[in-house]
Amino acid sequence: MKDYGPETFGKLNAEDYDELHDPGTTAETVELIAELAGDARVLELAIGTGRVALPLARRGVRIEGIDASEEMVAKLRAKPGGEAIPVTIGDMADARVDGPFDFVFLIFNTLFNLTSQEAQVRCFQNTAARLTEGGGFLVEAFVPDLARFKDGQLVRTRHISKNAVTIETAVHDPVNQVINHQYIRVKGGAVKLVPLPMRYAFPAEIDLMAKLAGLTLEQRWGGWRREPFTAGSKMHISLYRKS
Ligand SMILES: C[S@@+](CC[C@H](N)C(=O)[O-])C[C@H]1O[C@@H](n2cnc3c(N)ncnc32)[C@H](O)[C@@H]1O
Repeated sequence: MKDYGPETFGKLNAEDYDELHDPGTTAETVELIAELAGDARVLELAIGTGRVALPLARRGVRIEGIDASEEMVAKLRAKPGGEAIPVTIGDMADARVDGPFDFVFLIFNTLFNLTSQEAQVRCFQNTAARLTEGGGFLVEAFVPDLARFKDGQLVRTRHISKNAVTIETAVHDPVNQVINHQYIRVKGGAVKLVPLPMRYAFPAEIDLMAKLAGLTLEQRWGGWRREPFTAGSKMHISLYRKS
């Protein structure tokens, strides 16, 4: 999508991110990551407004972050404890952060915010370069469901309330594995357009990106409560290990 860079998500979404982007799984996410991370030095790629990082920090996890958006990080900073989390502003595919880290995670489908295969591969390589030997990299992403598209496009209602509605529109480019979304938010008579390009990958391709970076798949779950990953799973939580 033209004129859409790593910082655009935050510019468009920081203001109402917490209100509109609650996946409903935050408690389970924090629980599993805290368990896996232990007393490790931890890095969250695309830390955002601290949805998961802040509760982790409150539990004593030594967490740091990277994010491309000053606006998202300003929201994190404004919350209690937000000032204490070190955050580097930059593109997670290339950002240089002083490591090493024992555990890195990238959740809520944000790998797919990198809109080319090259950028996703670089993100794995950049992460692997910052991991200790034996360190873990955890990725949460949806399993693409291309049956949602009819004639290469979709329209569906997302949020609805008495004076607001969000309509998701999307066009699928199967060659580049890119879905170009445009969210149309109508609230109290005002209309806001929120574009979001995503480059999806199936789990096997993500495993290959990990392998290219020297990371091996150790575990794959179908949910944050360690549900088994099956052919019917709509998302996966994959844990890679540097060895
Ligand atoms: C869906 S939010 C996820 C935030 C947080 N991890 C969470 O789970 O709530 C996506 C985040 O990715 C950040 N982002 C998008 N592209 C990025 C990139 N190339 N490098 C670093 N951060 C990026 C956005 O600024 C935003 O904070």
